[in-house]
Amino acid sequence: MHMHRYEKWWLTLGTGSLIIFLIILGISAFHQGHQPPSAKAYINPEQVDVIAPFDKPGLKKVEGKEWDYELVLVASTFLYNPGEVEVPKGSRLKIIATTKDVIHGFEVAGTNINMMLEPGYISEYTTTLDKTGEFLVVCNEYCGVGHHTMKSMIKVVD
Ligand code: CUA
Repeated sequence: MHMHRYEKWWLTLGTGSLIIFLIILGISAFHQGHQPPSAKAYINPEQVDVIAPFDKPGLKKVEGKEWDYELVLVASTFLYNPGEVEVPKGSRLKIIATTKDVIHGFEVAGTNINMMLEPGYISEYTTTLDKTGEFLVVCNEYCGVGHHTMKSMIKVVD
């Protein structure tokens, strides 16, 4: 079948834009699906215990940063390390967290802090603690038989 030149041109243009569109769609879908939005960096989940800062989980006072404290937290079935921390009211806190095994959640009850911890990724959240109280950290991703027992506590004190 003979086609006019301009018909071929339109066909090529159409097919070309469709391919480009599908590539863009594929790339963005891949990016969205591949890591949680709060995750910044990659870490080998089998090496968590020996890779800084996760080799020393806990609360640390820091200097010269935009935040005052860093809470380095490691989740595993079915606990958080550390299990409890105490932070002075008014401090700016950066939470740096990962998991050693399966997907866990990190939700601070009564706040909008809600992260998904995925094996292989480091999740971060910075917040200002402007209210005193005991803030329960719960796992909101089903992770096995002990899921409902998985808790930590952030105590904000005067
Ligand atoms: Cu950890 Cu649910």
